[in-house]
Amino acid sequence: MNLMLLGAPGAGKGTQAAKLVETYHLAHISTGDILRAAVAAGTPLGMTAKSYMDKGELVPDLVVIGLVKARLQEPDTAAGFILDGFPRTVAQADALDKELEALGKQLDAVISVEVDRSALIDRLTARRTCKACGAIYNVLAQPETASGVCPACGGELFQRDDDTVETVTNRLAVYERSTAPLIDYYSKKGLLRRVDGNRSVEDVFAQIREIVESAAR
Ligand code: AP5
Ligand code: MG
Repeated sequence: MNLMLLGAPGAGKGTQAAKLVETYHLAHISTGDILRAAVAAGTPLGMTAKSYMDKGELVPDLVVIGLVKARLQEPDTAAGFILDGFPRTVAQADALDKELEALGKQLDAVISVEVDRSALIDRLTARRTCKACGAIYNVLAQPETASGVCPACGGELFQRDDDTVETVTNRLAVYERSTAPLIDYYSKKGLLRRVDGNRSVEDVFAQIREIVESAAR
């Protein structure tokens, strides 16, 4: 099963990807996570990426396309994968099409997680992520995380550098301009499945499960 999660910043792509990994054991391909790991490691890729990420701009297409091509060659993707945060432009989507064709693979569903704009800003500024296990929390919905300690593993929680109100506002504008057109792109291919992302994490996952189970039939 090869899936794509499409949605605005804060729609819950990472949260739902973690649940999909747990349930269906798919490889999680998050370009944001790959880029943040490069930033943390201080590699040349990370230094280039940071200058875009801190402003809420997209990292150049050629850079991320190269990363995803390499990631799709890794053996864990053979049993299925979830793309999270890629593609983000029509050029990236076209490149993905070509790469999947070359690999003899195809997407089974593109899941569009749709959330009202006002909720997105609230969610992003309240997000906390665990440095050790990567778990994602919302400090307003889960006040126990305000202590800065991960309830799952005891690791340190941090706030992403791009989750300031100013950067979030630009990320949402970039999403509308460059990424939202992909909804139409995948709708025309007959792959788009919409879910109401305003509901609880469990309700959203129930909608996604239905899509996955029917795509598997
Ligand atoms: P990336 O890391 O992909 O960020 P994003 O797309 O902006 O999305 P987020 O990770 O912020 O949100 P999410 O949808 O995963 O939500 P989450 O589950 O965490 O990209 C970051 C940057 O990297 C980009 O700006 C760009 O610079 C660069 N980049 C990455 N990919 C690129 C590409 N392909 N091309 C070019 N550049 C690229 O949830 C958010 C919060 O909401 C959490 O607090 C969570 O607990 C909460 N939450 C989740 N679901 C619910 C719910 N149902 N109800 C209530 N709260 C919820
Ligand atoms: Mg994410």
